[in-house]
This record gives sequence, structure tokens and C-alpha cells, in this order.
Amino acid sequence: MPPTSGGRCRSTPKHVVTFSCELLHYWHTVWVVFSSFSQCCLRLQVATLLVVLFFSRTCVDSLVKMEDEAGVVLVTGAAGLLGTHMLRSCPPHIVLHGTIRNTVPFIDETSRIALHPCELTEPGAFRDLLQRVRPAVVIHTAYSIKDLDRDVRCATYSVVDACRDVGVPLMAMSSDVVLNGDDGLAPYADDAPCCPVSEYGQAKADCEAYMVKSLSREGCVIVRTSLIVSTHPLSANCRWIADRLHAHDTVTAFVDELRAPIAAEDLALMLWELAVLFVPRCTPSGGSDVRAGPSCAFRGEYGGVWNIVGPETISRYTLALLVAQCCGFDARGTIKGALSKDSSVKRPRDLRMTMQRAQKFLHTTPRPIGELFWRHTSLP
Ligand SMILES: NC(=O)c1ccc[n+]([C@@H]2O[C@H](COP(=O)([O-])OP(=O)(O)OC[C@H]3O[C@@H](n4cnc5c(N)ncnc54)[C@H](OP(=O)(O)O)[C@@H]3O)[C@@H](O)[C@H]2O)c1
Repeated sequence: MPPTSGGRCRSTPKHVVTFSCELLHYWHTVWVVFSSFSQCCLRLQVATLLVVLFFSRTCVDSLVKMEDEAGVVLVTGAAGLLGTHMLRSCPPHIVLHGTIRNTVPFIDETSRIALHPCELTEPGAFRDLLQRVRPAVVIHTAYSIKDLDRDVRCATYSVVDACRDVGVPLMAMSSDVVLNGDDGLAPYADDAPCCPVSEYGQAKADCEAYMVKSLSREGCVIVRTSLIVSTHPLSANCRWIADRLHAHDTVTAFVDELRAPIAAEDLALMLWELAVLFVPRCTPSGGSDVRAGPSCAFRGEYGGVWNIVGPETISRYTLALLVAQCCGFDARGTIKGALSKDSSVKRPRDLRMTMQRAQKFLHTTPRPIGELFWRHTSLP
């Protein structure tokens, strides 16, 4: 599906410029044939050639500038929870491309989104796509915990390699689980070093390290977030609670696991803001103080790790209560508290985080998660 006309003036001016270039070249050929009849026209011919070269160069520059100004962005995992919200809240000046695998997102017929089936781990697949789309930035959200090596490590490494080779700035999602949660260092700052305790945390930490090694800290944005929650439809991290309650099963949730859940739509809005800060080409006007390479342009001071989480720290147990209440269940007796520290599997416990960078540079303030649930009572 090609991006449709909503993108900023991509078709008409491009044709005008291309036509102008062709016209100048055609006119020049005619002039060369004509003037070759006369030696005395030689000086005039050289002068004409210089004029033609000057105008051709100006035309090509304008063409490149117009494509830049369209603000092309490529989101991986476009059918996922966060990907879907990125599509929904895409700013009007962005021409959006997204990768999908098995799941197909619902998108409006009139939207300006181009979807590309792409298994990220297939050799060369993402690089080829990047070369065709040439986005101003890639926002990498794709992952799956079903196969950590394939869908977290390999998928991310192939995205990082392609971005480095093609020269496209990268923003990638990471997780609070790269942090330890038991070392007394909470609340964790943006620059807290990775020290994971779970396998998933280790896989995400490996991805962070690979990004920094391949692209440098300034050359990429790593967003550490907490549980991403949506109420319409219920995100998977809440859906399992609702499903168990519907089946009259007891839910056991940890009282000593602290997280700062964030609404998917708030996170998506903050990522769009961050994308525009990091890569000024995402804005119609661009920017002048950018670090530019052959095909990339980013502001290095916005690179590195950003914590983007909700403002309210709650336990898994409290989250379960909110879901129960929201779905119209009496939580008494159906939701039982347990201790994460007694669990056989090692899990991070206290993942409170601060958001110095986001609070300083982003305008969007995420809503407390309690507020999100209270506004949606009696969910299915
Ligand atoms: N959800 C959370 O609570 C949470 C918390 C902290 C951090 N994060 C991070 O936030 C990001 C987005 O999470 P999410 O919950 O929105 O994800 P999600 O809903 O599970 O969606 C992920 C998407 O990625 C696609 N995908 C997975 N592996 C792929 C591969 N090898 N090639 C191509 N596509 C692939 C999946 O395609 P299929 O449909 O084909 O499987 C899926 O559509 C992730 O990086 C995650 O680590 C999430």
C-alpha cells in the first residue's frame, strides 16, 4: 500500500522539479547541436553549460529537500500494542511506514500509512526496506518474549546494523527490566547502568549494549519504559487478569513488585515528541544545529537512554485490583497477594524510575494509571 496524498506535497512539486531538470537537459542538447555549426558560438556554449549545471544542481537539491521535509518515519512492530498507538497518534506532517509480521493492524483507508510485511531477522530484509523507504528515523518497537534470541536480540541487531549501514538514526524501545530492582538504587535515573535479573531483562540489556556499541550513545535513543497499558482493548498485561476473573479463577499478584505503568497512548505521544527533538527532519521546518552525515541528521545531545514511565508507582497486586474494579468484579477473595521475593523465578522487584530528561524536554505528561482505569468502568 503506497503512502497516499496526505503527506506534505510529495507528488506535485517533485514532478515539477523533475520536469524542470529534464527540460533544461533537453534544451542544452538542442543548443549543443545547433552551436556546433559555428566555432564562434563556443564561448556561448560553455557559458550555457555552466548555467544548465547550476540550475540542474539547484533542482536536485530542491528535490532532496522536499523529500526530507516530508518527515518519513518507519515504525517496526506496527501491529503491536505500542505500534498501533504510534499509528493512531502519528502527527499530520509525518509520512508513516510500518513493518508487520503475522498480525495486521486495523488502519483507516484514508490514513497515510504504508505497511510492509517484514520478518526482521530474515537476512537483508530490513536493510532492503530501509533502502527503499529512506526514513528520517526508525522507531523500533517490535519484540516478542516467546523467542528472546530471535525476536529480541536478532531482530534488534538486524535493525541496528541496517540503520548504521544505511545511515538512519534509530530510536528503540527498551524496558525497566534491564534494571536490578533489588540493589537499593531505586528510583533509577535515566543513566542507571543495566543490571538485569531475568532472561528477558538480559536480552533487552544486550540490545541496549549493541546499540551503543554500533551507533554510539549520542547516535541512538533508547527508551526504557514500564508496563504499557491500554484499556480499549485491554492490553495483554491486564487481559490475563480479566480472563481469569471471567473464568472464576483466583488471581495471584505480587504485592512487592513495584512498577510505574504508562498508558499506551501517552507513551506514543511522548515518543513522537522525542522523535522530532532527536531528528529535526521529522518536522516540516527541520533544524539548523543538527549533526549530519551522508544521509542522517540527528541531535546527539538527545541521544542515549530516556526513562518514560507513568507518574504513579503501584504493585502488581494494585494493578490487578484496578483491572478487577474496571471490569465490574468484586476483588475481595478473588485477588490474592503474594511475595515476589518468594517466587522460584528471579524477578526485578522495585523498579521505580525518575524521568529527568522527559520532564525537562517533553511537553506531554503521562496520566496516573489509576485515572485511566477509573474512566473506563465495566470493561468486557
Ligand atoms: N508491553 C509492555 O508492557 C512493555 C513493557 C516494557 C517495555 N516494552 C517494550 O515496548 C516495545 C513494544 O511492546 P508491545 O507490547 O507494543 O509489543 P507487542 O504488542 O507484543 O507487539 C510487538 C510486535 O512486534 C512484532 N515482531 C516480533 N518479533 C518480530 C520479528 N522478528 N520480525 C518482525 N516483527 C516482529 C510482532 O509481530 P507478530 O504480531 O507477528 O508477533 C508484534 O506485532 C517492546 O520493545 C517491548 O520490549 C513493552
